[in-house]
Amino acid sequence: MANVVVVGAQWGDEGKGKIVDWLSERADVIARFQGGHNAGHTLVVDGEVFKLNALPSGVVRGGKLSVIGNGVVLDPWHLVTEIEKIREQGVVITPETLMIAENTPLILPFHGELDRAREAQNSVAKIGTTGRGIGPCYEDKVGRRAIRVADLADKATLELRVDRALVHHNALRSGLGQEPIDRDALIAMLNEIAPQILQYAAPVWKVLNEKRRAGKRILFEGAQGALLDIDFGTYPFVTSSNVIAGQAAAGTGMGPGAIDFVLGIVKAYTTRVGEGPFPTELDDDDGQRLGERGHEFGTVTGRKRRCGWFDAALVRQTCAVSGVNGIALTKLDVLDGFETLKICIGYDLDGKQLDYLPTAADQQARCVPIYEEVPGWSESTEGARSWNDLPANAIKYVRHIEELIQCPVALLSTSPEREDTILVTDPFAD
Ligand code: IMP
Repeated sequence: MANVVVVGAQWGDEGKGKIVDWLSERADVIARFQGGHNAGHTLVVDGEVFKLNALPSGVVRGGKLSVIGNGVVLDPWHLVTEIEKIREQGVVITPETLMIAENTPLILPFHGELDRAREAQNSVAKIGTTGRGIGPCYEDKVGRRAIRVADLADKATLELRVDRALVHHNALRSGLGQEPIDRDALIAMLNEIAPQILQYAAPVWKVLNEKRRAGKRILFEGAQGALLDIDFGTYPFVTSSNVIAGQAAAGTGMGPGAIDFVLGIVKAYTTRVGEGPFPTELDDDDGQRLGERGHEFGTVTGRKRRCGWFDAALVRQTCAVSGVNGIALTKLDVLDGFETLKICIGYDLDGKQLDYLPTAADQQARCVPIYEEVPGWSESTEGARSWNDLPANAIKYVRHIEELIQCPVALLSTSPEREDTILVTDPFAD
C-alpha cells in the first residue's frame, strides 16, 4: 500500500487543508510529524467549516486514526480546547481515533511568553512568529530540558523535569526582566491537565509500523512550507522544525522507506507571512489584487499575507529537497483576468545568473528576480473539474510551471470546494 507525505513547497498557506482532506478520505491513518498549533488548517466538509491547529485533519472524518507524532510540539491546554471545540461540531474523538506520541515535547506557558517577549524586544531579532512558543519549545527539546508527554505520568519525574527546565528559563527571564516562574503553580497545572493528555498517549512508532505491516494507508500531514524549514528555509526567518518530507519519518518513528509518494502543495503565485526575504514580492496593484482575490490573511494570526508572482526557481529548489514526486497546484483561479503573468525563473546576483536562491542573507537581499512574461486568460477557471474546462493559456501556464520546476502536476485545485479538483495522478495508487 502506498503511504503519502503532503508538504508545503513555498512559505506555507499553499492550501494544504483541502488537499489533505481530499486525501484523508482515502487514508486509514493521518499523522502530523512537525510544527504545532502555529499551523492553521481550514477544512470544509459537507458545507461545515472546521478550523484545526494541532489536530491532524483526519479527525473530522470517522473511522480514521489520527496521530500526533514526536516531531510535533504540543500545547496541552490548546489541544484540550481544540478537542472541545471540534466535539461541539459533532466530531467524535476518543483514544481509539487519536494518539499522541509519548515522546512529544510539551509547549508550556513560559514558551509562549518567551516567544512574544523576544518578538517585542528587538526589531533586529524579530522573526514575525505566531507567538505560540514553537521556537522556545524546540530549543528545549534539543537542549534536553523539554517536558514530554510521558513525563506527565509520574509526579516525581515531572517535578525533576520542571526543575531542570526552570534552571535555564529563570536565568533567561531574569535577563529579560521577567518574574521567575512559579514552580508549584506550573506543576499543579501540569498535573491537572495530565489525565486529559495521557488518555491519548501511545508508542506511536510501534502503532504506525504495525499499521504499515497490516497494509494500511498512512497520510503524513505536513504543516508550514519548505521555505520555512529550519535548515533549508530563508534562515533565520523560518520556523523551528524541519518541514521537508524527510521529517515525516523522523517525526513519527518510521523508516524513510515507508514513504512512497511525496506530494508538494504549490500555490499558483507566492505568499508569505512574517518577516524575511521574498524576491518576487509585489508592492503594487498586482500584489494588492492577488491578496484580495486570494483572501490572503493568516488563519492563526489574522495578519495580511505578503503576495508576489510565482517563483519557479524557489519551487524547483523545494521540490528537490523534499523529493517531491508530484505537486498539487492550488488557487489557479486567483490569476484569472490578468492580462499577463510573470514567472521568476532565476536571479541576477551582481550580474551573474543563478537558478537557485543562495544561502547567504546578503546575497539573497541582492538577488533580483529574472522574469518570464506569459499571457494570462480572461475566462474563469474557478470550479474547473477537467482540463477541457480550462482556457488554453491557463493550461499553458500550468504546463510551463511543470517544466520549470521539473516536477509534474498530480492534482489541480480550482476552488475551495473539494470536488473542484482535477486529478492527474493518484498519490495513493500502488
Ligand atoms: P513560528 O513557527 O511561530 O516560530 O513562526 C516562524 C515563522 O513561520 C513566521 O514567519 C510565521 O509567520 C511562519 N509560520 C509559522 N506557521 C505558519 C503557517 O502555518 N503558515 C504560514 N506561515 C507560518
